[in-house]
Amino acid sequence: MALTRRTLASGAVAALAAPVAAARETSLKAAARRSGRLYGCAVEPHRLDEDTGFAALAARECAALIPENAMKWDTVRHAEGRFDFAAADRLLAQADAMGAVVHGHCLLWHEALPAWFPERPDERLLRGHVGAVVGRYAGRVRSWDVVNEAVERNDRRPDGLRRSPWLETLGPAYLRMAFEAAHEADPAARLALADYGLEYDDVVWMTEKRGTMLALLGGLVKAGVPIHALSIQGHLRGEQAPSFGRPLADFLRRVADLGLEIYVTELDVRDDATAGDAARRDRNVADHYRRFLDTALAEPAVRMVCTWGLSDRYSATADFFPRPDGARGRPLPFDADLRPKPAAKAMRQAFGRI
Ligand code: XIL
Repeated sequence: MALTRRTLASGAVAALAAPVAAARETSLKAAARRSGRLYGCAVEPHRLDEDTGFAALAARECAALIPENAMKWDTVRHAEGRFDFAAADRLLAQADAMGAVVHGHCLLWHEALPAWFPERPDERLLRGHVGAVVGRYAGRVRSWDVVNEAVERNDRRPDGLRRSPWLETLGPAYLRMAFEAAHEADPAARLALADYGLEYDDVVWMTEKRGTMLALLGGLVKAGVPIHALSIQGHLRGEQAPSFGRPLADFLRRVADLGLEIYVTELDVRDDATAGDAARRDRNVADHYRRFLDTALAEPAVRMVCTWGLSDRYSATADFFPRPDGARGRPLPFDADLRPKPAAKAMRQAFGRI
């Protein structure tokens, strides 16, 4: 079924399209836009359908949406032999109604695979998947995480590549195949390699991973692979020293020097291991957002910043890392009642400084 605005019947989607009075206050998307960036968040489309207040907040604050799970294999390829695009189509329609762009996530990942996924996936499966998914949304998805988490230095290959099922069957060439297939299916889409563990200056494995990533990206660019960006996940930890200084800035510059854009795609700050009441933790979380973004946004190649969720009401990070005292984690810019937290202010200020 072709999705058009006519098919958007629910009240929650009407809220997506409705003007919101509070939009006159500076939203994150307005602050980001003034610095020439896109701000957005990852969402589950059913949340936008079911929760009118949340949908209105997303419409007010976000210029970009990332499908949190709706484009992963275990959703799109849940059943063997057929594609299920219902959730992904929904997300696209919601983004259209909001006037937001979509960052697709993710075409290949070693996680979120369906039960039927073969032990030895072949080139035909790879090209068939990438071609079908990117092709369906050609001209509508602005950018893609083509391969997620391709680097795993613990797998002890000299090139640092993760021994994913794709790597084991097809060798490192699987990366080129995936980017080529995506580029063929939508020549205008911006294609990214996405990874975590690139954020902190004082974590040795992360600074080493930056070197591995630079070598990998450099090799792909040199080989003429159609890659346009690096997506840095940006899952931060409130109990850790916020070491986002010169080394991070240098890393971003070196990525940019390869001619690549940079997206921060999964930003949030865990507070499951920090002490103090909610107000104190919120100040700490905000400080981490501020320090990370001050360095990231000083780099002009950073074109988009997305948080992994928008409100603490729906945060996979808070779900995965419960606090020992039983209090709900508060990793996102808006609280569970959809009110802006110090983190939202810190983000607006960080965008405003540029
Ligand atoms: C997570 C989702 O947020 C969860 O809802 C799901 O259960 C598991 O995946 N890095 C990624 C994201 O690239 O796709 C992951 O998303 C979080 C870690």
